[in-house]
Amino acid sequence: CGIIGIIGNDQVAPRLVDALKRLEYRGYDSAGIATLQDGKLDRRRAEGKLVNLENRLAREPLPGVIGIGHTRWATHGRPVERNAHPHITNRLAVVHNGIIENFAELRAMLEAEGCRFETETDTEAVAHLVTRALEKGKTPVEAVRDSLPLLKGAFALAFLFDGDEELLIGARQGPPLAIGYGNGEMFLGSDAIALAPFTDQIVYLEDGDWVVLTRKGATIYDENNNRVERPVQKSQSANFLVSKGNHRHFMQKEMFEQPEVISHTLSNYLDFTMGTVREEAIGVDFSTIDRLTITACGTAFYAASVARYWFEQIARLPVDIDIASEFRYREMPLSKNSLALFVSQSGETADTLASLRYCKAQGLKIASVVNVTGSTIARESDAIFPTLAGPEIGVASTKAFTCQLSAMAALAIAAGKARGTIDARQEQQLVRALSEAPRYINQVLKLENQIEAICQHLAKVKHVLYLGRGTSYPLAMEGALKLKEISYIHAEGYAAGELKHGPIALIDETMPVIVIAPSDRLYDKTVSNMQEVAARGGRVILITDRKGAEGARIDTMATIVLPDVPELITPLVYALPIQMLAYHTAVTMGTDVDQPRNLAKSVTVE
Ligand code: G6P
Repeated sequence: CGIIGIIGNDQVAPRLVDALKRLEYRGYDSAGIATLQDGKLDRRRAEGKLVNLENRLAREPLPGVIGIGHTRWATHGRPVERNAHPHITNRLAVVHNGIIENFAELRAMLEAEGCRFETETDTEAVAHLVTRALEKGKTPVEAVRDSLPLLKGAFALAFLFDGDEELLIGARQGPPLAIGYGNGEMFLGSDAIALAPFTDQIVYLEDGDWVVLTRKGATIYDENNNRVERPVQKSQSANFLVSKGNHRHFMQKEMFEQPEVISHTLSNYLDFTMGTVREEAIGVDFSTIDRLTITACGTAFYAASVARYWFEQIARLPVDIDIASEFRYREMPLSKNSLALFVSQSGETADTLASLRYCKAQGLKIASVVNVTGSTIARESDAIFPTLAGPEIGVASTKAFTCQLSAMAALAIAAGKARGTIDARQEQQLVRALSEAPRYINQVLKLENQIEAICQHLAKVKHVLYLGRGTSYPLAMEGALKLKEISYIHAEGYAAGELKHGPIALIDETMPVIVIAPSDRLYDKTVSNMQEVAARGGRVILITDRKGAEGARIDTMATIVLPDVPELITPLVYALPIQMLAYHTAVTMGTDVDQPRNLAKSVTVE
């Protein structure tokens, strides 16, 4: 969910909505704002996209110069207006990101004292808890201070108080919350992007911090209620413009940006002229490490799953890899000589962050591949490997994925060099291969019309199977993820060799099988699996190169022929048709490509 709070000098409602637009990637089930009008609390909320709230405000404006706002990704309670934030009592309004784990106990306690609950949300318990303290005669600051220790779970909160035009209170335990310093105005927001139009002077609250804002400034307290100072940072988000350019969707724009952003990312790590790794950009001594433990969620996990093959093959570095929600509770024995690597576009994913903190507590060195360098995961890492993808707005990740691949391919070369598993000539070959990725991707983007035509068929089916071997196996899983995320077609990615152990039972003429098979050393094996599909009446969409297309020897439903590329960069180049297939299928079906149902871009709850 996204949070915004403003103590301003002009009408605040349009500014709250503007900030919420920038936060919509965090959730878009419902949205709402609350302000004080002549000291009295009032709110407007609406189910669904932000535009519904805007229409509501056009009909029923909400005056006031102080207010809070929220865009929601539902955890407790359905995404209907009644459950939308802000939640209010006669004393306060509150917006919340995260989960209050002990809300049922709090609710029972408060109901026993006579509180009446109107919603199914965990947030309402917070509203009543603080209200009860106010009713006992505490000041707002005391009421929040004394209520926070009673809350279990992960949360960012912002409070607005009836009758007090000079006060906002924020608190952070888990999900990020930033303070923005304006000129005679103060702001609270989930991230610097939300605050970008108002100020570039940002302070990130640390875990356990809470803050009292007035027009004059901010007083920050830590979890023991000691006053603390946190550094003011200049945010880089000011130039960030939310615009689709000539593209129909952000996702399409972001797919077409890939040649450029991959170039940027690669040149951060590689010297193309010399054909070498830029050692100063690496920040980790891979020669002292005997294991790499990689943790991530969603698309970032699939990028890491590709990179595992590179680290093992190029640098002979054993890799453990897991999704963060499993890793954090797995109690895996960790060696002190392991490097713990976390991959995250947002740098805020709750499970990935928890896994990072677990490894840190075990004394491991922490590195992260992140796209947002001011994020919590970045700030808590010993070494940061940035992906220079720029802001990614489409919920389905595209350019962040290929930039993660690019950064980790470069890291694998650096690791191989440091560990002496590749010599200078091999280093040069690999660097040269990577440097060609943007050019090949440009060529693949030109296949959009052909891919769009294939999607006319895909849009009619209920299930799709993706197959691949080696690095094409995680790519098959990423392909299936992309398709299900935005078209809602059920899709699965499988290792081609595993087909005969189960999914082959599903094969018939109604389920297309997308086979990712560059003509590499595993090509013949994959072709055998493809023939097993064809022999059972399955319809194959083959993604391969020229040589691979000639060697396929079956009638495919369609063959997408990509340029012949060096083996190292096949996942980077083959990611493109995978993305375009999902995109055009979704467009054909008319789904909401950039904001698919039930999903959020940044998931700061467990
Ligand atoms: C959400 C997003 C995915 C993303 C995943 C991990 O599920 O919808 O696109 O891959 O979170 O996010 P992260 O920011 O950690 O890469």
